[in-house]
Amino acid sequence: PNATRYEAENATISQGVVESNHAGYSGTGFVNYDNLVGSSVEFTVTAAAAGTATLAFRFANGTTANRPMDIAVNGAVVAANKAFNGTGAWTTWQTTTVSAQLAAGTNTVRATATTANGGPNLDHLEVTA
Ligand code: GCU
Repeated sequence: PNATRYEAENATISQGVVESNHAGYSGTGFVNYDNLVGSSVEFTVTAAAAGTATLAFRFANGTTANRPMDIAVNGAVVAANKAFNGTGAWTTWQTTTVSAQLAAGTNTVRATATTANGGPNLDHLEVTA
């Protein structure tokens, strides 16, 4: 199945900034979450049909501390405190996945930091239906 990519820098950002100072990102940059609880990135995702999808988040975390985030689809948390562990460097990008049900048509996928460290640096979301 084909994956559709949604760049974080094009998403709706609450308490974060678009940056491009750490190489290896796709598109034109990534989102640097503010270091606080509740900073978030919300993607608008389109699904051709209702069903299970794989949500793949590409991120970097140059610290050694996990930066967990709640993953919500259409306002409901589907993965609480999903781990975004250290990747070794801010230029080392990794992908972690969540399985979720999408509705036909437009959906929201939001990733919200749950600790005072904020989220990792978020590059993009890929959705595979
Ligand atoms: C550094 C790094 C940022 C990162 C930040 C953080 O400042 O350059 O890209 O977002 O640490 O700890 O969140």
